[in-house]
Amino acid sequence: MIELDEQVAAVWRAIITDGDGVWLADRIANFGLIHDSLGKVLSEKARTVRERAFQTILKNRTYHGGILAPGSAPLKSGENGKGIASRWYADTLKKRILAINDIRLRLKFVEGDGMEEVRKNAHRRDAVFFVDPPYTAGGKQAGRRLYTHSELDHEELFKVISEVTGDFLMTYDNTDDVRDLARRYGFDFELVAMQNTHLAKMTELLIGRNLDWARSARKPPGAGGL
Ligand SMILES: C[S@@+](CC[C@H](N)C(=O)[O-])C[C@H]1O[C@@H](n2cnc3c(N)ncnc32)[C@H](O)[C@@H]1O
Repeated sequence: MIELDEQVAAVWRAIITDGDGVWLADRIANFGLIHDSLGKVLSEKARTVRERAFQTILKNRTYHGGILAPGSAPLKSGENGKGIASRWYADTLKKRILAINDIRLRLKFVEGDGMEEVRKNAHRRDAVFFVDPPYTAGGKQAGRRLYTHSELDHEELFKVISEVTGDFLMTYDNTDDVRDLARRYGFDFELVAMQNTHLAKMTELLIGRNLDWARSARKPPGAGGL
């Protein structure tokens, strides 16, 4: 797993690299979330990776749209008017972190540039690549507001991924420019349903060399055919 954003990277580092998943899960489960406690934790300078990880999760769950990028702020009304607590599902977060913690020895986390890692591993026959880039292709604004690292050379990413020996899967927003890029590189694409941060139903694109598996997986039982 590769991530460039140091706030997000702190979470993966704490769980996968440092073995602090249990600490993080307990910190979340035992935290009494009110405006004062939130303000206090977020105003402190994180001295360790795990403290920074906790701050990231707090921000992601209590800030508008889960946005960590500069300029984001805590929720005022939130879901059902519950404000900062409306997306603070402490028990669910704890369970998910402990589940990742259980398999952490099978994972490796790299804080760095994903494109560079794809280039480095492009020759490997035993590697497959999943790429979930910030959605800023075709001048889209959504990704720009969401992520600190939203600038990505999408043309270059398509070129680099077209040269890998193994298979790959990318997810992208469904725009004319992205579909054009996919066509130019001779890639297959397929629309799938997704939920955005406001739980609205939207679609996104899966892009790969051959997505027949995705189409056949979505056929209703008994539909038959190939
Ligand atoms: C659509 S989100 C993917 C989130 C990720 N799949 C997850 O579930 O945590 C895009 C992410 O790409 C990261 N990013 C942007 N440029 C990057 C790069 N060159 N290398 C690695 N990660 C990058 C952003 O910081 C952001 O977290």
